[in-house]
Amino acid sequence: MSNICVIGVGYVGLVTGTCFADLGNHVIALDIVEKRVENLKKGILPIYEPGLKEVVERNVRAERLRFTTSYQEALKDADFAFICVGTPEGVDGEADLQYVRMAAESIAENMDHPLVVINKSTVPVGTGDWVAGIIHEKQPKPIPFAVVSCPEFLREGSAVRDFFSPDRTVLGSTDKEAANKVAQLHLPLRAPIMITDLRTAEMIKYASNAFLATRISFINEIANICEALGADVKEVAQGMGYDKRIGHHFLESGVGYGGSCFPKDVKALSYMAQIHGTEPQLLQSVMEINMTQRRQIVLKLQDILGDLKDKAIGLVGLAFKENTDDIRESPSLDIARMLHELGAAVRGYDPVAMENVQRTVPFINLAEDAYELASGSDALVIATPWNEFKSLDFERIKSLMKQPVIVDGRNLYDPLRMKAMGFTYRGVGRGYNGAMISSSGESHT
Ligand code: UDX
Ligand code: UDX
Repeated sequence: MSNICVIGVGYVGLVTGTCFADLGNHVIALDIVEKRVENLKKGILPIYEPGLKEVVERNVRAERLRFTTSYQEALKDADFAFICVGTPEGVDGEADLQYVRMAAESIAENMDHPLVVINKSTVPVGTGDWVAGIIHEKQPKPIPFAVVSCPEFLREGSAVRDFFSPDRTVLGSTDKEAANKVAQLHLPLRAPIMITDLRTAEMIKYASNAFLATRISFINEIANICEALGADVKEVAQGMGYDKRIGHHFLESGVGYGGSCFPKDVKALSYMAQIHGTEPQLLQSVMEINMTQRRQIVLKLQDILGDLKDKAIGLVGLAFKENTDDIRESPSLDIARMLHELGAAVRGYDPVAMENVQRTVPFINLAEDAYELASGSDALVIATPWNEFKSLDFERIKSLMKQPVIVDGRNLYDPLRMKAMGFTYRGVGRGYNGAMISSSGESHT
């Protein structure tokens, strides 16, 4: 059992703190936003993350998980302090480290015994050394500490599962003893633990996210070629994925990647490369293809409907992916903005992200469900692959729409079935034109 302090109760911090408490540790989670902490004390979570509420409640009841706004209280008995504050995109794509700086300064000013400080937020290579420098500088009197990088690999929507079943734990530090202590904390997760230096650990995080983003842009480029050549990208990806050297993951084509990580991490890596004199050609293409995917959806709508001015377009899904209320860098909202600029009447529905959308993108007219959204729409755009959109009543949808047009940005449906039901349907990379003739002359569709 260890005493752990987690700084920041967002998507990463709340999951990390709660799950460490569930492993039997005593965790105190700090946030500078009082309302968030007050709400957590009442059992109200600041984010939607499947399965998290139950684990929070269980550990609060067992008195292993507490919340505070006070650094003094948070650090009082802590052996470890996890920095989990946001690192949003700053100017020119550079990561904005002001919150990490604030956390490091507050740790320095309030620690009163030796401490292992762990960077969980995604931070530019070299930040671990920078954090150590800030703590040194701001400590009123010297108290020993070590900085360890332990990047998060938690996908929103499955973060609790990802915490308990990680593929690996990566630890970086110049202090072997501190890294070993953090390794001990992770032993119950029974995953490989790799210990390396600080900068290499920080780079592993960026390279991992950039590689996954590259796979998505790669399959999106293939999708566009498939569309031109009359092949079906879903089957292409499936056929590629059986090759163990390739695998099936992160080969779903569509509107491109979004969220709080991939867009800013690819940009930040590209920025780091450039200021250090290297030319990140592949990363630039990855980002360009990603934006092209959003534009393609609008082009398809224009191709079918002509001028989009005053056309009612319904966005089916607003969150950046399924099973989350997070709308940061959501492809759906990028498409919404393009449509709004073209004068379309933009509407939307999402099972959990609508409160966030209402606060930040007021021009989107929100509907109660997919059917209300369909009612009077000239077209629907499938933008987030929530389960509840996978088996809609399409006869009803068709009867409600002004025009039966669906642009499926997540390839949820079978093009032939949609066409047979009378929809004008466009997916992404679904160039396959219908029947496949076998050598016996039999037709497979
Ligand atoms: C995380 C990581 O930190 C980021 O680097 C990674 O790339 C994506 O995931 P996330 O948990 O999604 O960020 O951020 P967010 O949900 O915004 O939560 C950050 C929390 O830290 C907020 O609750 C905020 O109030 C809090 N915070 C911020 C502090 O407690 N102190 C600060 O100084 C700043
Ligand atoms: C990511 C990382 O995967 C995770 O390890 C951590 O670093 C945080 O960032 P997250 O952004 O929550 O997780 O979700 P992820 O499942 O990686 O999806 C990112 C985006 O890519 C989403 O917009 C998703 O819809 C999109 N995506 C994913 C695709 O377009 N195609 C795919 O095949 C997979």
